[in-house]
Amino acid sequence: DWTPNAFVEETVEELQAKLGNDKVVLGLSGGVDSSVAAMLLHKAIGKNLYCIFVNNGLLRKNEFTDVLEQYKGMGLNVKGVDASARFLDALAGKSDPEDKRKAIGRVFIEVFDDEANQLKDVKWLAQGTIYPDVIESVSATGGPSATIKSHHNVGGLPDFMKLKIVEPLRALFKDEVRRVGASMDMDATLLGRHPFPGPGLAIRILGDITAEKVRILQEVDAVFINGLRDWGLYDKVWQAGAILLPVNSVGVMGDERTYEKCVALRAVESTDGMTADWVNLPYEFLQKTSNDIINKVKGVNRVVYDISSKPPATIEWE
Ligand code: XMP
Repeated sequence: DWTPNAFVEETVEELQAKLGNDKVVLGLSGGVDSSVAAMLLHKAIGKNLYCIFVNNGLLRKNEFTDVLEQYKGMGLNVKGVDASARFLDALAGKSDPEDKRKAIGRVFIEVFDDEANQLKDVKWLAQGTIYPDVIESVSATGGPSATIKSHHNVGGLPDFMKLKIVEPLRALFKDEVRRVGASMDMDATLLGRHPFPGPGLAIRILGDITAEKVRILQEVDAVFINGLRDWGLYDKVWQAGAILLPVNSVGVMGDERTYEKCVALRAVESTDGMTADWVNLPYEFLQKTSNDIINKVKGVNRVVYDISSKPPATIEWE
């Protein structure tokens, strides 16, 4: 019978035997898989694991600093790299979803390559690949593991691709990864985090990206997600987020006519992201959230709720 404790014990031994005194580099995304992979490797080889956490400027509000602190608190040898400006520059003027994904994937590889090259004598690249990634090999881009898969889109092989690959979670499903994390006493909020796409808010800002739009969407998203937590709804939905629409609409504030942005809220139930149903969130919650967003976030005067399921809609709008 498979148990998380036995898995941790065996995997740590295997990793120690395989890696010896070698140095290993790993890209942390803030998500469950890369975090659990890092923790396993940390248990096995300690300071010989070099983690890199890149801020692409498209994360949730305060996520980079909060999650970086959390990683440090777990004892991980982690370097935070704020590359927001580089990503925003690369995205300037791009509004096609796939162009945005490609730009983000390319810059991620550049930044990761720069960082990995500064480490001396690294032999291995660790990844948080899990079993569904192995069998489906989804063409996602933007995240640490995902960008590796699309490396052939990039001219020339980045230096870190010459490293040997170690993937301790390759045989596990998501729920098993969470159980492994829990058995290593990892924080429940970290393990229970909703999936978040590698390209982040870039694919939730329809059309072109600017720093101001990112700021607006981060604020809106924070009101929505914190609200879900406060109302005990966060763990009842599989994924949730806000989308900034490329639409202005007329509103009224006091005696003034406004002409401002519209945001859509999306919350879905799913098991694997392949199909999904929109969640019947309580009207009282939606009412409160809509008021909070419009009152607190300057530049937004309208909130709508997405009631489309997948298929035929997708979870993300881009
Ligand atoms: P869709 O929109 O295809 O999303 O229904 C299914 C799941 O995949 C995530 N997603 C992505 N993840 N890079 C990623 O790493 C991407 O480009 C990407 N696009 C969608 C989405 O958040 C959902 O969990």
